Amino acid sequence: MDQADLDTLIEFLRFPSISTDSASKGHVNDCADWLVARLQGAGLDVEKHSTAGHPVVLAKNGHRAGRPTVMIYGHYDVQPVDPLELWDHPPFEPHIEGDRIYARGSTDNKGQLLAHLLGVEKTIASGKDLPVNLTFLFEGEEEIGSPHLEPFLTERRGSLACDVVAISDTGMVAPGVPTFTYGLRGIACIELTLKGPKGDLHSGIYGGAVANPATAVAHLAASLHDVTKGRVQIDGFYDGVVPLEQWERDAWAALPMGDAEMLTLTGSPALYGEEGYSSLERTWGRPTAEVNGIGSGYQGEGSKTVLPAEALLKLSFRLVPDQDPAEIMAQAKAHLESHLPPGVTMDIAMGHHGKPYKVDPHNAYGKAAQRALESTFGKAPALIREGGSIPIVQSFKEVLEADTLLLGLALPDCGAHAPNENFSLENFAAGIQLNQRLLEELAS
Ligand code: BES
Ligand code: ZN
Repeated sequence: MDQADLDTLIEFLRFPSISTDSASKGHVNDCADWLVARLQGAGLDVEKHSTAGHPVVLAKNGHRAGRPTVMIYGHYDVQPVDPLELWDHPPFEPHIEGDRIYARGSTDNKGQLLAHLLGVEKTIASGKDLPVNLTFLFEGEEEIGSPHLEPFLTERRGSLACDVVAISDTGMVAPGVPTFTYGLRGIACIELTLKGPKGDLHSGIYGGAVANPATAVAHLAASLHDVTKGRVQIDGFYDGVVPLEQWERDAWAALPMGDAEMLTLTGSPALYGEEGYSSLERTWGRPTAEVNGIGSGYQGEGSKTVLPAEALLKLSFRLVPDQDPAEIMAQAKAHLESHLPPGVTMDIAMGHHGKPYKVDPHNAYGKAAQRALESTFGKAPALIREGGSIPIVQSFKEVLEADTLLLGLALPDCGAHAPNENFSLENFAAGIQLNQRLLEELAS
């Protein structure tokens, strides 16, 4: 591994650019400035745009007629670090051990973004012209649902016009197995607040006379699934779902990753999910409802006989083509309202959302990307979909009419969004080469 590249990665990882945390706003901005300086140093034309949220950084080479225009997207914001006590080293003091660099954002997405930037820097530094018209688009709000990026694209659809988008922000099915992702799940988030009495009550004096919001929230959460079939019980939830194709089921069943690996990776006592589907099918090709947070009442040591005044529930739905987040949110709202137990009130706040994405992996750009993966890693890529979401990808299709090539470098045990997130340095080096080969293949 080139020491200068590693030092650059370490610098980038030191910014605590946590987009959801308002106290980190200055750090997110400093991180954008760091990217601006780096891109200018590479000789690109750079623009930093402030938004109502975090900045967008754009950089272009000289665009000329007769070459394809490729947009490379990445995000420089990161998820929060808690629980901090579970990190073996401070999350913003990058630590190298073996082939891995440990830091928040190392895989998701700074390491993968930087591999593209360094690939481009190296091509330019070698005196070669880049083979394509290139636009880098780096945002600081992906981890909060990219709320300001779609309007940004719409306003600048002329200057951001491109033939294809490339992103490294997805996974590889196993170390050394190049992976081309042709689908992502969408997402819809909802937050509920249930209110009962005007304040916490003694559960002996008042228990039995009024409804308990903690019990009510448990009923609501439980109403979302048919536990025996592992299916979501919201009316209309599956209406828009496009069934998995047989070739996908066959191809995924043959991957060096399946139920056994899922069990090991998650450390769960057993697998569980929708009846009739493998774990890969459940996570990549089927929709889900998840409770991301639930809270009410006394959580401290011992017992406290309280009847809590309030309860909270944070939900997210992962969606597949052709489910529409707005429709799912409306169906979920109707379900929650009709299943609300008596004696409590409910506030429903709609959170961020993004559409699912799927593309034909065999179109000309897809094949070019797969050739680049094959020549970088020395074997033919696996074709997969992913369970995670990158909300702006479907907007690239709708606003810019461009397909997205998803060339992920994340390993299954990278710990994205979790303590001890890490990035494989081998994949970092491979990503730099992949960028160079990708641009050549897309130009040919
Ligand atoms: N890189 C991930 C998305 C991802 C993860 C794709 C794993 C494929 C496999 C991205 O940074 C992310 O975490 N997205 C969020 C979006 C949400 C906060 C709107 C997600 O999927 O939870
Ligand atoms: Zn993420």
